[in-house]
Amino acid sequence: MSVKSLLSPSMKKGMQEAVYIELYQSNLWKSLANQLQRLGFFGSQKYFLAESAEELTHYQMHVEFMNDMGDCADLPKIDAITEKVGNIGDALDAGYSIELDVYNQYKDFYEKAQKEDVSVAQYLLQFVEIQRKAVGHYGDLLAKYKVAETTKELLEFDQHISDV
Ligand SMILES: [Fe+2]
Repeated sequence: MSVKSLLSPSMKKGMQEAVYIELYQSNLWKSLANQLQRLGFFGSQKYFLAESAEELTHYQMHVEFMNDMGDCADLPKIDAITEKVGNIGDALDAGYSIELDVYNQYKDFYEKAQKEDVSVAQYLLQFVEIQRKAVGHYGDLLAKYKVAETTKELLEFDQHISDV
């Protein structure tokens, strides 16, 4: 007996989009890390490299889930990263914006999955929560960055970005 995929074509498409977005986000954080290193913000460089690694754990969770469902994740072509940042604030703006987009993407996919496949929906719920927390976290980072900007404590912020 051969293993049959339990994913419908539309659920497979959604999972592939989720694979793409995690890999894209991982690359985006790497690009921000590289640019911040060039600007001398080494604390932020480290922070974004850790963020990049975390997205790869999300990607791997999707791979395992698709395998459990008798399917196999395809590796997509990833778009080039075009965001250019001149300071930590720009990087945090870009971060907040993508976390919000990804949050909405997982919410939409979850709603679709609820009607189609309870296993996919149950699996996706943790990503709705992960993204909700990420949006909140970037909101906090932006708030703290604004304070650091006003009080001219940008290097202090850079050193302690991982503590927020
Ligand atoms: Fe992620």
